[in-house]
Amino acid sequence: MLTSFDNTGLLKVLNFLKTHESEYLSGQDLSDVLKISRVAVWKHIKKIRSLGYKIESKQKRGYKFVNTTDKLLPWEISKKLKTNFIGKRIYYFDEIDSTQNFALNISSQSIENGTIVLAEKQVNGIGRLNRKWHSPKGGIWFSVIILPEFEISDTTIIPIASSLALCITIERIYGVSSKVKWPNDITINGKKLAGMLVDATIQANKIEKIVLGIGINFKVDVSKIDKKIKNTQNYYGITSLLSPQSKMKQIELFTEFLLELEKVIQDLTNGKKQKIIKKWSQYTDIFDKQISIKTKKGKITGIATKIDLDGGLIIKTNGNNKKIFVGDVIIE
Ligand code: BTN
Repeated sequence: MLTSFDNTGLLKVLNFLKTHESEYLSGQDLSDVLKISRVAVWKHIKKIRSLGYKIESKQKRGYKFVNTTDKLLPWEISKKLKTNFIGKRIYYFDEIDSTQNFALNISSQSIENGTIVLAEKQVNGIGRLNRKWHSPKGGIWFSVIILPEFEISDTTIIPIASSLALCITIERIYGVSSKVKWPNDITINGKKLAGMLVDATIQANKIEKIVLGIGINFKVDVSKIDKKIKNTQNYYGITSLLSPQSKMKQIELFTEFLLELEKVIQDLTNGKKQKIIKKWSQYTDIFDKQISIKTKKGKITGIATKIDLDGGLIIKTNGNNKKIFVGDVIIE
């Protein structure tokens, strides 16, 4: 595990190499300037390379920083992040069972608002309704712990607000039009690009903590996942934002999304639910369409008309309006 608040020796070496980008620095120089042993310097360089940074080495001359990493490392995120509270504390894993589980565990202790848990790969990723969430390398898999200052009833707007934030960010950075699909999917050309999951702990009728889990197929080989899950119920196809071969890095999408997420959370805190729902409605393609939803009580078919202030979806069915809170929307 790497965090945004330790690894000082490693960061000393990395930052020194970065700030002397065009020069070779010998192990002895690094050891003298940074006041760490030569063995420690060597160990740090080895670790820095294993984290995906390109460090050149030449005999008798030493080490030179060549290129940064593709990985979403905590200190790289911290450097770029413009938020006020989201991401001030970051836990990073090469591999984990589920960031959601880890975040839920640490959220039972006293924890800083906006803490993030992220992983390059999850081996037991969790999707909505307890489904498996395939999370290979190339995706962005993370959970954000939020200590909400808004009303308990507004928790149901969180998935609406965060999926809206992701659509806006994707449009701004890549010029790609993605859609929100109730309750919290993001789609491109009708296929699923990203999903969100909300877990809330409630005490004395007050939401204590919300853990928002987000999975984005950034540059994922979705054909492999498609083969595995195409026969699952309500599956409607899966897509990736970029091809697995793309050289684009994840960091811009990640940091810009967190900034947008913070804005919608502020809106929610300031009681601007209506604004969020209005904006969300501009990004969805389910309204005025014939849809069906499988709920625990059976299948409901009708025309999707709007989202209510509590996040429920209103469906017109046989002349009556029905409000649904949980389920998967299938466009007929
Ligand atoms: C969905 O079913 O659409 C929600 C998927 C949420 C997946 C994310 S990936 C990061 C976080 N950790 C998990 O185990 N799940 C969420």
